Amino acid sequence: MPGDLEGKVAIVTGGAGGIGRASVELFVAHGAKVVIADLNDDAGQALAKACGAAAIYQRTDVAQREQVQALVDRAVRDFGRLDVMFNNAGISCAAFPSFLDDTLEDFERVTRVNLLGPMIGTQAAARVMRAQGEGGVILNNASIAGLLAGQAMMTYRATKAGLIQFSKSAAIDLAQYGIRVNCLAPGHIRTPMSSFEQGVDRDNVSTLATEIDAIYLYNQPLKRRGQPQDVAEAALFLASDRASQITGVTLPVEGGVTAGDPVNHLAEILAARTRILGA
Ligand SMILES: NC(=O)c1ccc[n+]([C@@H]2O[C@H](COP(=O)([O-])OP(=O)(O)OC[C@H]3O[C@@H](n4cnc5c(N)ncnc54)[C@H](O)[C@@H]3O)[C@@H](O)[C@H]2O)c1
Repeated sequence: MPGDLEGKVAIVTGGAGGIGRASVELFVAHGAKVVIADLNDDAGQALAKACGAAAIYQRTDVAQREQVQALVDRAVRDFGRLDVMFNNAGISCAAFPSFLDDTLEDFERVTRVNLLGPMIGTQAAARVMRAQGEGGVILNNASIAGLLAGQAMMTYRATKAGLIQFSKSAAIDLAQYGIRVNCLAPGHIRTPMSSFEQGVDRDNVSTLATEIDAIYLYNQPLKRRGQPQDVAEAALFLASDRASQITGVTLPVEGGVTAGDPVNHLAEILAARTRILGA
């Protein structure tokens, strides 16, 4: 609904790109004042400028406690309060097709950004919200990789699974202050993070993109690749007072991937019988 976040102040980490950027734009369109936190200064500053007085940019590495504290302090100093903390920033781990080849060299950085970052962000924001005495909202951006087991990308999967369990625990812990804590679990959303098309020449890029879409959509019931706006809409709902009775949930935004296996085994078995045995 229009004005869902009227009068609210939000922080969006990783707000300069992908899902974070779409969330900043949607939150501002619904009346929020937003602090954009990111490491991409050019994109962050340009977005803040485009949002006018409703947004400011603060360079922040979410893995650094003092920078996250400075971010929360900035929201309170410039906008007077903090109502919504969207711990969205996250990074992928190195893409080794097999776990047995994975060097795990990026384990510490990926874990610090994807798991420690949201934990620090939750703590710093919740301390302000507790002092305000009016509740608040924490959103943590996990992934279907934290819900579904699978091959490869083990560090990423482990951080996102940890984030989901942390968020549920924080929801219980912080409920006494009226602070709601929820997770989002996006599926295969088209953003720079999920793009394997970067650096590919113009002749091949659309062919490759089509093949990649087909691979992602193979086990997705809804045959449309998700967009950053799809996740932003879910974040807006969970951030708004319309979700005031919802805490401790993980909301998949993934076209039905986690609902179950879309392969119609019965139809395939019957077809195989017919093929082998005849009608
Ligand atoms: N794109 C997907 O398919 C997908 C799927 C599931 C979950 N997610 C999660 O959604 C979140 C956003 O992903 P995205 O696809 O929009 O990624 P993205 O790479 O498009 O954007 C991430 C943003 O975070 C910023 N960032 C990176 N490290 C940071 C740090 N240490 N501190 C502050 N900012 C930092 C980047 O500069 C960038 O602007 C991530 O947590 C990601 O794991 C994405």
